[in-house]
Amino acid sequence: TVLIVDFGSQVTQLIARRVREAGVYSEIVPFQSAAEAFKRIQPKAVILSGSPHSTIDIGSPRAPEEVFSAGIPVLGICYGEQTMCAQLGGKVEAGHHREFGRAFLEIENDSALFDGVWAKGTRHQVWMSHGDRVTEIPAGFRVIGTSAGAPFAAIADEARKFYAVQFHPEVVHTPDGAKLLRNFVHKIAGIESDWTMRAYREHAVEAIRQQVGKGKVICALSGGVDSSVAALLTHEAIGDQLTCILVDHGLMRKNEAADVVAMFREHYNLPLILVDASDRFISALEGESDPEKKRKTIGRLFIEVFEEEAKKLGGADFLVQGTLYPDVIESVSFTGGPSVTIKSHHNVGGLPDRMKMKLVEPLRELFKDEVRALGKELGLPDSFIGRHPFPGPGLAIRCPGGVTREKLEILRNADAIYLDEIRKAGLYDAIWQAFAVLLPVQTVGVMGDGRTYEFVCALRAVTSIDGMTADFYHYDMEFLGRAATRIINEVRGINRVVYDVTSKPPGTIEWE
Ligand code: XMP
Repeated sequence: TVLIVDFGSQVTQLIARRVREAGVYSEIVPFQSAAEAFKRIQPKAVILSGSPHSTIDIGSPRAPEEVFSAGIPVLGICYGEQTMCAQLGGKVEAGHHREFGRAFLEIENDSALFDGVWAKGTRHQVWMSHGDRVTEIPAGFRVIGTSAGAPFAAIADEARKFYAVQFHPEVVHTPDGAKLLRNFVHKIAGIESDWTMRAYREHAVEAIRQQVGKGKVICALSGGVDSSVAALLTHEAIGDQLTCILVDHGLMRKNEAADVVAMFREHYNLPLILVDASDRFISALEGESDPEKKRKTIGRLFIEVFEEEAKKLGGADFLVQGTLYPDVIESVSFTGGPSVTIKSHHNVGGLPDRMKMKLVEPLRELFKDEVRALGKELGLPDSFIGRHPFPGPGLAIRCPGGVTREKLEILRNADAIYLDEIRKAGLYDAIWQAFAVLLPVQTVGVMGDGRTYEFVCALRAVTSIDGMTADFYHYDMEFLGRAATRIINEVRGINRVVYDVTSKPPGTIEWE
């Protein structure tokens, strides 16, 4: 095990992720409980994270002294370097040369940390984010790398196996960073790769058992990958102590609710209650065209319905949520200031405190692609795991203006044809997200010598890494023509199709 002492950096989880990618198990513990964790875990190596704090401030966090006296390798990153220096007899000062972003590291000396990656005399891109800097290194250390703003950007005491870097090797903007972390865990700490998604699964199952005991657990299943994987893990851990509830708000895609129910009931034998609440949702949405009010109505009704069902079950002690690491980090504002609400996101699982349930969050440490890998490990079919994201408020936000059953039916059919064409053309996996939007606009057309006056359907497809920014997908016109023709021919109520060529920003991916 590698113990990662968290001093509150935004990217501590990335350190854990890189260590996992090296096939090694790690545990992140907040600095306050690091001493206790160190005793309990008896790690083979320790990594000290970055931090928003300054070592110069009185009462700023420190690593437990045992970390440096146990004879095991220690790697300090950013603040981790500074506290290591401060604790071992070096000096840190408030930096005059603050460095944020891209910087270049000159390799001054060969080191086990750089072995096979960076050679003496070469220069490499790294990512910096620091205000303070080390000005004097402790006895036993020597400089192995420097940057313009940090003369002690990388230092090492090879004898004691203490290493420290001012830059962040865990972020992708330090292109070779993952290799340095591999060197640290494999070559320096001598830990072999034996950590896999299977091991993660076993570990998570055990942790759920420990947390839940004999308690009763419920889970809001949406049909998305995250809640599905969270539910399956929990079911594996505690069997029928878990009940899943799928609220069908009538805003899902064609056959979606039925498919999800079939998969979980038949294939996984998961206790699952399907609640058809579509009338309630759709009648509340009828006549409401303000996007935020629509989102809020859906969020509120979802909670109401879910609470009612939970009550029918006699309540529960725990609620399973498919929270991922990016959800955790996004909820802690990076700038510290309040940011503007673009859209009120509604996700299944965002349930109110008054329900008084403790949360089970087995995916809290994972990133999306790791959840997919875990889903595969749990036997979920590729077609399910690789599905495009689908928003909690469903088709309601793809139907600008008031939502009616008729409009939803038209949209559902157009969407199904569009996605069918995308799959047939072999484009599904190249596109991050694709869907149809039904505009509340009717236009004139001519079909079979007659006049038509029907709705416009907009097609959307984007490429993206994380949904935060996106570009429209560059189809060839043949494809668009084919999809448009089929939609107009096969879907009653649509006589015109347009393609959305807006990127994000300035557009958002969804239309509302
Ligand atoms: P936007 O439209 O903000 O969407 O560019 C970015 C990504 O988030 C999805 N999305 C949501 N997902 N609940 C969700 O679970 C929501 O309320 C919600 N709104 C947008 C959207 O589909 C895209 O993948």
